[in-house]
Amino acid sequence: MNGKITVFGAGNVGGAVTRRLIERKLCKKVVLVDRSPGKAEGIALDILEASPVDLLEPVCVSGDDLEQTRNSEIVVITAGATRKEGMTRDDLLKINADIVRQCVSKAALYSPYAFYIIVSNPLNLMCHVAMRAGQIPRTRISGMAGILDASRFQYFLSKELNISVENVQAMVLGEHGEDMVPVPRYSTVAGIPVTEMMPPGKIDELIARTRDGGAEIIRLMHTSAFYAPASAVIQMVAAVVMDKKKILPCTAYLTGEYGIDGAFVGVPVKLGANGVEEIKEIELTDQERTALHASADKIKKQLALIGESC
Ligand code: LAC
Repeated sequence: MNGKITVFGAGNVGGAVTRRLIERKLCKKVVLVDRSPGKAEGIALDILEASPVDLLEPVCVSGDDLEQTRNSEIVVITAGATRKEGMTRDDLLKINADIVRQCVSKAALYSPYAFYIIVSNPLNLMCHVAMRAGQIPRTRISGMAGILDASRFQYFLSKELNISVENVQAMVLGEHGEDMVPVPRYSTVAGIPVTEMMPPGKIDELIARTRDGGAEIIRLMHTSAFYAPASAVIQMVAAVVMDKKKILPCTAYLTGEYGIDGAFVGVPVKLGANGVEEIKEIELTDQERTALHASADKIKKQLALIGESC
């Protein structure tokens, strides 16, 4: 392990991920790459200039020289346009497909054995574009958003019940978008299913807020969320770097699991040193399964729009 992690995209998410990687000491070196001249260098310098105050080891370098990224163990793709108010993640489809394709085809030349974490939106489709562009095996690539969506749902449940977030677990499957599939039956507070702790109408309300979670932040601050997305990335990095073999809701390429073939869909995944080590198939009701399949069907239809096959 050389402890090198590359982050493509020095926007808000890329910057927050870089800072957290250093704070958490999850790697020896972060290479931050951005196509706008000076951007990655500026963020890196800002972080480095805090190292005497925060007493952090100055382990961050950056630049657009991709040679510096060679043999990264993990590559995080945050590059791409972000949503503005009134836009859905799908509105970013074509522009970000080109950006992610370019980034990953180059990244994979330098780091063919890295584990790739995709953050760019629309997430499920950008995972697909990245896998194809870099010819990455499905065990070495995953999308971030299930953790983010579950974390939002957990937070809203905790606030509603006035119980510590530490007691709350949530399961969110499917698309990172309008068709996400929160599963209250598998969402618990101190082990008790939330379905036994609040009326269905209240759960539906919190699910609607979770589904709208990204847009709610954009309405408030006129740009896309970054602290919670960065935390979700960090949880994935930690699982891989520390070989935690942790079950997390992540976006994985399905080849028959849940009856879905040829699409990246949010499912419970075991993450460890070998990347996506296992896709957990949990029992779903007919209704939950139908919702998951609707999510996958939408993703597959959109793949055609950007010239990708399943
Ligand atoms: C969000 C973005 C990261 O949900 O998709 O905030």
